[in-house]
Amino acid sequence: MKERLEGLRIEALAELEQVQNPQTLNDLRVKYLGKKGALTEILRGMGGLSAEERPIIGQVANDVRAAIEAVIEQKQETFQQEETNNRLRAETIDVTLPGKALPTGSVHPLNKVAQEIEDVFIGLGYSIAEGPEVETDYYNFEALNLPKNHPARDMQDSFYITDDILMRTHTSPVQVRTMKESKGAPIKVICPGKVYRRDDDDATHSFQFNQIEGLVIGRNIRMSDLKGTLLQFVQQMFGEQAQIRLRPSFFPFTEPSAEVDVTCVQCGGNGCRMCKQTGWLEILGCGMVHPRVLEMGGYDPEEVSGFAFGMGVERIALLKYGIDDIRHFYTNDLRFLGQFARM
Ligand code: DAH
Repeated sequence: MKERLEGLRIEALAELEQVQNPQTLNDLRVKYLGKKGALTEILRGMGGLSAEERPIIGQVANDVRAAIEAVIEQKQETFQQEETNNRLRAETIDVTLPGKALPTGSVHPLNKVAQEIEDVFIGLGYSIAEGPEVETDYYNFEALNLPKNHPARDMQDSFYITDDILMRTHTSPVQVRTMKESKGAPIKVICPGKVYRRDDDDATHSFQFNQIEGLVIGRNIRMSDLKGTLLQFVQQMFGEQAQIRLRPSFFPFTEPSAEVDVTCVQCGGNGCRMCKQTGWLEILGCGMVHPRVLEMGGYDPEEVSGFAFGMGVERIALLKYGIDDIRHFYTNDLRFLGQFARM
């Protein structure tokens, strides 16, 4: 019986030596030490031993059990340690790695251009005035020398809300509002904002777009002041080499009126497809404030004079960035918008 026990010890230890995983280890524990295991099987024969032999064999059996248990325990510890090591390895993070960049938004090109235009005029001492987008017929037309049934109203097809209220068709009504608020004091403002027209959308038209209006009123304000101001503006916007020219035009709220062209941003004035070989691109309307408009704003045309101008932000942005379709500004294609993030 002693031999069988020693044989069991050798067999068990040899087999345990080979164990590679906790599952097999457990199987072997059951196989050798379990209730129906090999050791119990041998010890069943204890009953047939003499009283002297029994404690000796009992001692051997205990030694064998202890030896097997010791190896199992040691193996278990090794497996646990390995598992911990693997987990730590898997959870390791390299804190020196650069983070993942989050996608960030960027300022919309139209806002960017509007801000740039505003900055130029703020630099020239202008302040910013604003007015409502839902406007009365009076401010949008009448106070700008466009009485009801005046044919020039057709220049701007309008969205009417009632007979007397409409979506403003231009930022010019802010002129009159500012005059009324200023009560005869000198004025130097720009008025940025959205305007609305009953136009079909195409590459150069939109039912809603952005304008920036300018108004200067004071003593001895002359056409040359207007021209100098616009030249300054254009050169800051498009570069020192840019020139302007004024072409006589008509607006009911200015007299005389002019349309302003800038030397073509593409060819510099030599003539190309963009400027239809003329070397010039139209950028805004302007003129000397009409005496009737001054009067309706509460100013005496005998005492003061003024100039005004109005430009489309989309138009300036198209020219500045060489974009050929105004609809790009409104369709929110991130591939288009993202290009302005770094400009
Ligand atoms: N309000 C005009 C338009 O929308 C633009 C304009 C022209 C504004 C001449 C002015 C100006 O202040 O003097 O077409």
